[in-house]
Amino acid sequence: MLLRRDLIREYVILPAICRATFASMNSRDTAKKPWTGRFTAPTDAFVEAFTASVDFDRRLYRQDIAGSIAHATMLGAVGILSDAERDAIVAGLEGIRRDIDRGEFNWSVALEDVHMNVESVLTERIGPVGKKLHTGRSRNDQVATDLRLWLREETDIVLDELKRLRQGLLAVAEREAATIMPGFTHLQTAQPVTFGHHMMAWYEMLTRDAARFTDVRGRLNHMPLGAAALAGTTFPIDRAMTAGLLGFDAPCANSLDAVSDRDFVIEFCAAASLLMAHLSRFSEELVLWSSAQFDFVDLGDAFCTGSSIMPQKKNPDVPELVRGKTGRVYGHLMSLLTLTKGQPLAYNKDNQEDKEPLFDTVDTIKGSLRVYGDLVPVMTVKGDAMKEAARRGYATATDLADYLVRRGVAFRDAHEVVGQAVRQAIELGVDLADLPLETLQGFSPTIAADVYDVLTLEGSVQARDHLGGTAPRQVLLAVQAARTALAAEDRARPR
Ligand code: ARG
Repeated sequence: MLLRRDLIREYVILPAICRATFASMNSRDTAKKPWTGRFTAPTDAFVEAFTASVDFDRRLYRQDIAGSIAHATMLGAVGILSDAERDAIVAGLEGIRRDIDRGEFNWSVALEDVHMNVESVLTERIGPVGKKLHTGRSRNDQVATDLRLWLREETDIVLDELKRLRQGLLAVAEREAATIMPGFTHLQTAQPVTFGHHMMAWYEMLTRDAARFTDVRGRLNHMPLGAAALAGTTFPIDRAMTAGLLGFDAPCANSLDAVSDRDFVIEFCAAASLLMAHLSRFSEELVLWSSAQFDFVDLGDAFCTGSSIMPQKKNPDVPELVRGKTGRVYGHLMSLLTLTKGQPLAYNKDNQEDKEPLFDTVDTIKGSLRVYGDLVPVMTVKGDAMKEAARRGYATATDLADYLVRRGVAFRDAHEVVGQAVRQAIELGVDLADLPLETLQGFSPTIAADVYDVLTLEGSVQARDHLGGTAPRQVLLAVQAARTALAAEDRARPR
C-alpha cells in the first residue's frame, strides 16, 4: 500500500530534485569520459548534449547502484576483487546513493549517463579501486538490468494502485447492488441494470489489466548482467549469484538477447495502453453521468474545477484528463514498437530512447490510477435520478416481451405487440406500467394482472438472477467472489 509520504516523494520531491540538478548542470564541464583513450579530439559540445541521457536516466540511480553493489559483491565472492576492494566499492556506492537521495550530487552531462556519472564519482571518492567495478560488465548489460529492476518496482506500485481502485469499486458495487439505472446499448436506454453490476463490469476489466501486469512482471524478471557488451565476459563470474542478490528469477539465457531486446518495455506499455483504454471509457461515462442531462453521479468538489466565466459550471476535469492522457500512452507504445523494429542485434544506441516513453507511461498510469482510487469511493450515486431515467426510457419493454413468450406467444410476435404498446405509451406520455390492464390486453389478450410484476424496474433486474446477471443477489455474490479472488491474487504475488 502506498503511503502518502511515498506518493509525495515519488510525484513531487524526486521530479523537483531532478529539475533542479539538471538546471545546474554544465554541458561543458571538464569531467573525464572513461572512453577517450582512442580519441584525439574532444566531443563536439552539441553532440555531447545531444547524445547524453543523464537528464532522464538518472531516475535509475537507485537501481544502478543496487546493480553495482550486487556485481561488486559477486566479483568479491569469485575472487576477482579482494574483500577490501569490494568493501571500499560498496561503501562508496552507498555514500553516493545517500547523496543523490538528498539532492547533493553533481550530475555531469559530459559523463553522458547515470552509469558513468556514478562510476566516475565513485573513483573520485575511493581512488583507483573504483575503476575495478566495471570488470566483467558493460553499460549495455548494466542499463538493461537497471531498467528491468526499475520497471519491476514500478509494476508493483501499479499493481498496488490497481488493487486500491478495484477495492473501491467493490465497495461501491456492494453498497449500490440494488440501485437501479438504465443500461444502454447505442447510448439508448436498453434494459434496467443495477449500478453495482455496472461497477463490477469495470472491476472485471481492471482485473484483467492487473493479470496482464503480473504477467509482464514475470517475464521481465530475468537478469541481463553477465552479457557484458554483447558476447559475455572472459572473467569467471557467477551470474546466478548476482541474479539471486537482485531478486531476479534467473539470468537471461542469451547474452545477445539480454542486451538488445526491450520487449519487456513494450509489453508493459501494451498493458498500460489497455488499462488506459479501460480508464478512458470509464472516464467517458463519468463525464456523461455528471452532466445535468444525465445527473447520475456527483464527482465531489475536490475532483472538479470551476469556470472562470460561467459561475454555474463544475467541470469533470479529472475524468476528462484521464481520457485525454490515454493518447500519450498509446503514442508511447507506438514509439517503442517503432524504436525496436529496425535494430540489428545486439545493443544499439537507439535503445537509449526507450526510457522517456516508459517513464512517462508509468507516471501517467500511476497518476490516473491514484486519482481514480481516490475519486471512486467518494462519488455520490444518485439513485432516484437513475431510476427515473430508466423509467422514462421504457427499459422494461423486453421484460414484457419475455412475459408474453412465457405465455406461449412467439418472440417475434411478442416483440411486435410490445412495440405497439410502447408507441401508445409514448403518445400518452406515460410509462408502460402506467397503461391500464384493458389497454394492454387490447394489444394481447394473453396479458393478465400479474404483468405489472414484470413491468417494474425492480422485477426486471431481480429476474436476471444467474451468474453474470444484473440481479442484486448476483451482484453481491460477484463482490464476494471477487474479494476471495483478490485475496488469493495478493497471496500469489512475488515480493
Ligand atoms: N545511456 C545508454 C542507454 O540508455 C547506456 C548504454 C550505453 N552503451 C553504449 N555502449 N553506449 O542505452
